[in-house]
Amino acid sequence: SAAEKDGYDHFMLKEIAEQPKAVADTLLGRIGADGRLLLDQMRLSDEELREMDKVVVIACGTAYHAGMVAKYAIEHWTRVPCEVELASEFRYRDPVVGRRTLVVAISQSGETMDTLMALRYAREQGARVLAICNTNGATIPRESDAVFYTYAGPEVAVASTKAFLTQLIACYLVGLYLGQVRGTKWGDEVRSVVRDLSDLPSKVDQVLETMEPVRALARELSTATSVLFVGRHVGFPVALEGALKLKELAYMHAEGFAAAELKHGPIALIEDGVPVVVVVPSPRGRSVLHDKIVSNIQEIRARGARTIVIAEEGDEAVVPYADHIVRVPECPTLLQPVVATVPLQVFACEMASARGFDVDQPRNLAKSVTVE
Ligand code: AGP
Repeated sequence: SAAEKDGYDHFMLKEIAEQPKAVADTLLGRIGADGRLLLDQMRLSDEELREMDKVVVIACGTAYHAGMVAKYAIEHWTRVPCEVELASEFRYRDPVVGRRTLVVAISQSGETMDTLMALRYAREQGARVLAICNTNGATIPRESDAVFYTYAGPEVAVASTKAFLTQLIACYLVGLYLGQVRGTKWGDEVRSVVRDLSDLPSKVDQVLETMEPVRALARELSTATSVLFVGRHVGFPVALEGALKLKELAYMHAEGFAAAELKHGPIALIEDGVPVVVVVPSPRGRSVLHDKIVSNIQEIRARGARTIVIAEEGDEAVVPYADHIVRVPECPTLLQPVVATVPLQVFACEMASARGFDVDQPRNLAKSVTVE
């Protein structure tokens, strides 16, 4: 009903707007006064966590994109090898998992059959399973050894938005916790990441306040036949997520690529006027990554693409190559998906409305996929 939507036209818009709170609620109580992490619900002892020699993240769809970000963060902070795999592929390929494998199953609903079957398989092989879930008491957390709840609140729109942002937060916290328990890299860098995490709710708020030009752009592009999304590092899963949103809501051809892969084939798709959304990492710190993507933008623009650049405030290097710039607040690259995904959600939502589609109930899709 209209009342349930809190005055918004769609649940999706309401849920996009709730993201600062969802992120804050997921962080709440999990960072101690001294900056150390407190994950009381972990149910896996520090000793068990210290024994793990590999992390395997399994998930589907949007949750899988959160898992891709987790891999970058976990390996960087803990030096423990981390794989990420589509849950539906996992048990059919004879994966190497055992007693010393920590499997992280990410699921908003906690009822996704592909993810459930993958976690059952992992447990049969002796792995310990940690669920990251948004639904209290759902099957996936019930069948896992440990659970980390995201506190996004109920997500009604079929397209996942606030659950995704909180899954990212959960992945960061689990990664940092593992680092803390194992004593690897627990020092100034991690402490500063914890501070940066606490700044995210207000940064997401800032992004939400500046979305009108993104909506206008979506309306302007609503007759495009195809939109491409590119990014590097954790910007790559953000690109995949932007493309998934556009496919599921606006029924538009959309694809996400790792920016440097374009030249290995997909760049042939670029013709005059094709909109290409580029997710640009922070120019501070890991500037090599930033320089590389600037040259990727140059390449695609030279071939006629219309470039829509998501870049940090104050990043001037991208200006000459951007047909449109969407600014996001300063953010360390690993955490940037939390702010950079928001404009892509708004873009897809507006695009679906402009094309006359049902934003909350896209065709052929169900909120939770309970068949394999
Ligand atoms: C997201 O917008 C999708 N509707 C879908 O990809 C979803 O993320 C996927 O089905 C996994 O669902 P889960 O998180 O409930 O397991």
